[in-house]
Amino acid sequence: MLVLGIETSCDETSAAVVENKVWVRSNIVLTQTKLHEPFGGIVPEIASRKQMEFIAPVVQQALSDAGVTWRDLDAIAVTNRPGLIGSLVVGVSFAKAVALAHNLPLIPINHLEGHVFSVFLRERDEGRGTRGEEQTTGNRQDWEFPFLCLLVSGGHTELIWVKDVGDYEVLGRTRDDAAGEAFDKVARALGLGFPGGPAIDKASENGDPNAIAFPRADLTPSLDFSFAGLKTAVVRYLKGLEERLKRKPNPTVADIAASFQEAVVDMLLTNLERAAELTDAERVAVVGGVAANRRLRQKLLSLAEKRRWQLALPELKWCTDNAAMIACAASFRMERGLAQPNLLFDAYAVAEINDAHP
Ligand code: KG4
Ligand code: ZN
Repeated sequence: MLVLGIETSCDETSAAVVENKVWVRSNIVLTQTKLHEPFGGIVPEIASRKQMEFIAPVVQQALSDAGVTWRDLDAIAVTNRPGLIGSLVVGVSFAKAVALAHNLPLIPINHLEGHVFSVFLRERDEGRGTRGEEQTTGNRQDWEFPFLCLLVSGGHTELIWVKDVGDYEVLGRTRDDAAGEAFDKVARALGLGFPGGPAIDKASENGDPNAIAFPRADLTPSLDFSFAGLKTAVVRYLKGLEERLKRKPNPTVADIAASFQEAVVDMLLTNLERAAELTDAERVAVVGGVAANRRLRQKLLSLAEKRRWQLALPELKWCTDNAAMIACAASFRMERGLAQPNLLFDAYAVAEINDAHP
């Protein structure tokens, strides 16, 4: 089974060919970060215009890298929710056109479901040689349902009990900002630029994570998250910084970044641990852009060891937005008879993972 995936939900234009559900034959990701950088964030209109410019060559490249033609494909999968509506519409319209032209089934996929399935992705040349961290944290060939999934991206922070394909129970979610959003906003306040996650990750390298005791929101007994208070605490801290700098010892930007990051990681892992206890989970996965965070990965590895979890922590390229995860989710749905190919579906800016599959 060969599925072409198309993902244009935000500022990445991505296309991928996935074989037999999990094997990535090609995955092209064209990111627009540099174009949005001067604005300090993603400008939706620029994002959608660039999607329109890039989509055709990116799809062509994915097919040629995989060594396949339209005729070899069994289906096309496209992200239709949630995301920036202008960007989504480009991918969906393009996918509808090529599905119609080549008489291929078209499967709309929820971006959040795509992230969850990133844990299954594999490459033919994997295991050939050592690539450091991936040895322990790359995708595992023995991965199966059910598993507990912490989805941490720019728009979402959710704890999902993944029972089976299409069977998800959301145990907790953020009540305000997503973790990635908090990284981006705090990075801006610190003058670290955009995108904020990688900038804080880097800036914190030489910082002391215990330099400043930023607050950790505790919403017990619920498994929800809240990051707005932490963000405000950092901003308030920065306002009083001039006074503080007169005193010794001086906090550095690295200290502030590291202390903020530590608070986010602590909050994520505290709830993950509680959710794992509640569900008696043996398998735990962490996916989405923020899963690329090095401090989170480091602390997660020791927690998994302590708790004896089987851990799926995808390689960095599968954490951030990519079309391979979209093709993978569609392939699992097709195998289970849960895909409903059609050409008559819409794109939605807002959606939950459990929203009815159109
Ligand atoms: O999953 P993703 O690529 O796109 C969405 O679906 O939102 O996630 C993007 C988010 C951004 O907020 C970005 O700042 C964050 O992931 N991110 C990171 C790191 N790399 C990306 N956050 C913390 N540490 C990182 N290394
Ligand atoms: Zn995403």
